[in-house]
Formats: sequence, C-alpha cells, structure tokens
Amino acid sequence: MTPETLFSLRGKTALVTGGATGIGRMAAEALVQAGAHVLIASRKGDACEEAAARLNAIGAPGSAEGFAADISSEEGINALVSEVNKRTQSLDILMNNSGVSWGAPMGQFPYHAWDKVMSVNVAGIFDLTQKLLPLLIKSASDEDPARVVNVGSVMGEVPMGDGAYSYSASKAAVIHLSKIMAKELAPHRVTVNALAPGPFVSRMTAFATEDEDTREQVGQGVPLGRVGRAEDIAGCLLFLCGRGGSYVTGAVLPVSGGINVQTAGNIFAAAL
Ligand SMILES: NC(=O)c1ccc[n+]([C@@H]2O[C@H](COP(=O)([O-])OP(=O)(O)OC[C@H]3O[C@@H](n4cnc5c(N)ncnc54)[C@H](OP(=O)(O)O)[C@@H]3O)[C@@H](O)[C@H]2O)c1
Repeated sequence: MTPETLFSLRGKTALVTGGATGIGRMAAEALVQAGAHVLIASRKGDACEEAAARLNAIGAPGSAEGFAADISSEEGINALVSEVNKRTQSLDILMNNSGVSWGAPMGQFPYHAWDKVMSVNVAGIFDLTQKLLPLLIKSASDEDPARVVNVGSVMGEVPMGDGAYSYSASKAAVIHLSKIMAKELAPHRVTVNALAPGPFVSRMTAFATEDEDTREQVGQGVPLGRVGRAEDIAGCLLFLCGRGGSYVTGAVLPVSGGINVQTAGNIFAAAL
C-alpha cells in the first residue's frame, strides 16, 4: 500500500452539496485533487458552475461540474436526484455539506427558525441520501464501499448554543442520524461518517472570520490556537473516502482543534 493507493479517488464520482463555498469548496477541491469527478450543487447554480470551472482549470487529475439544486424541500430534492441520475450512472461519494444557520438570543429566537434550519440540515440530508441510495449501492462493493460523509459540527457534540439553538440541535441530529445510517447501510456496503468541524472561514461564519483580527480572536478560543484550514477538511475527507477508510463507518471526526474535549478547568486544582 502506498499513500497514492490509500487516498487516490481516480475514477470516482462524488456529489458535494454546497460545494461552491466554504467547507464544501475545500472538500470539492480535495476530491478533484485526488482524481474524482465532482458534482457541485446548491441554490446558486451560477456559483456552482464558476466553482467547477475554477477546479477544472487547476490542472488536477479530477474534474468538476456545477448546477443548481435546493435541498430545502422534497420537490427540490427530487429535482436534484433526477439531475444527478442524468449526469452519472453511479455515485461513489456523497458529501452532505449544505447547511444553514440562524442566530438569535434566548427569549427572542423565532419559531420559524426551527423549520428553516431543520428542513435543510436534517430532513434535507436524510431524504437526499435515501433517494441517492440506488446510485450509491450501484458503485459499492465489499472491497470498496460507497461513502457518505455528513457535515455535522462540534456544536452538535457539546452543549454550545451560541444563539444558534436550532442549528446546534440540527447538528446533534446529523451526528445521530449518521450513526443510524451507518448501521443500516453497512450491509449494502455503504459507509456513513460525519465530520464535526470547529470554526472554519466561510460565508456562514463571515461575521466572525472575515476580519483578520476577529478571526485571530476566534482562533485563540480554540485549544489548538487557530481556526480550521482547507487541509484539515481535505485530510479527513480523503481518509474517509479513500481505500484507507473503507473499514470505518459510524465515526464522527472531530475537526475542531480540540473544542470537542474542552471542559472547565480542573475542579480539584485548589486542593492539589
Ligand atoms: N464554517 C464553520 O465554521 C462550520 C463549522 C461546523 C460545521 N459547518 C458546516 O459546514 C457546512 C458548510 O457550511 P460553511 O460554513 O461552509 O458555510 P457556507 O459557505 O454558507 O456554505 C453553506 C452551503 O450550503 C448551501 N446551501 C444552503 N442552503 C441550501 C439549500 N437549500 N439547498 C442546497 N444548498 C444549500 C449554500 O449554497 P447556496 O447559497 O448556493 O444554496 C452554501 O454553499 C454546513 O453544514 C455547516 O453547518 C461549518
């Protein structure tokens, strides 16, 4: 086994929802660099096409194509599934990355921010995955299972509201659903794992990461002292999607610089 055989994705086809921006964009680039053909889909079809064109111009072994899709409704998911079926005979990798958030203080959190977030972050990824299963199963084998990677969050692992109540609850649901799907889909040779990222620069976190000073401060709140980088996503994804990850399912990779294990200081410090 060489690093090339462990992590190469040559000949594979992947779908990355929300692959034109933020973490999805980092993921799409990693997959193309590893040789995969990547379908990039989100509401802004133009941005997806531009992201694909940019990836096709970097001289990587893989390629990309972008198109519009909206996973906030059953109708939108059905349209995405039919678009994917038109573009590929089988699907090796599904990265459920699209997500939305809502922030408001306790006491003022709007009721409609539950449906808005849960419909995309939870119902959206579940329904899309179940409807793409025939394509995933088509590519799956004992030797090389198909891969589903769901993007959760460290906020779904630890009790961290930060005003994003429906978001945190949705990400806890993503992590739980990932384990349920991992259990049910292993017999079909489909692995299901989740990433639980900490802070990464993206449109969703632009309010805190766009400005260099604020980003630095956010990084200082992370045990490993920085916000996440593209290679942090790439490393996890290539592990989970490459041959080296074919025996791993139901895992939650804490790509959060240690936030997942951060607790209060030592409670017995004064007595020691
Ligand atoms: N950045 C972080 O610090 C962080 C930390 C933990 C987890 N995450 C998770 O990482 C994932 C990516 O977020 P991000 O931080 O990279 O933010 P982002 O740049 O805002 O990406 C979110 C993506 O989701 C797409 N999207 C939103 N609603 C959609 C819909 N109805 N249908 C299809 N696509 C939709 C957006 O594209 P369109 O607007 O074109 O639809 C966008 O590309 C999310 O699941 C997020 O919860 C992020």
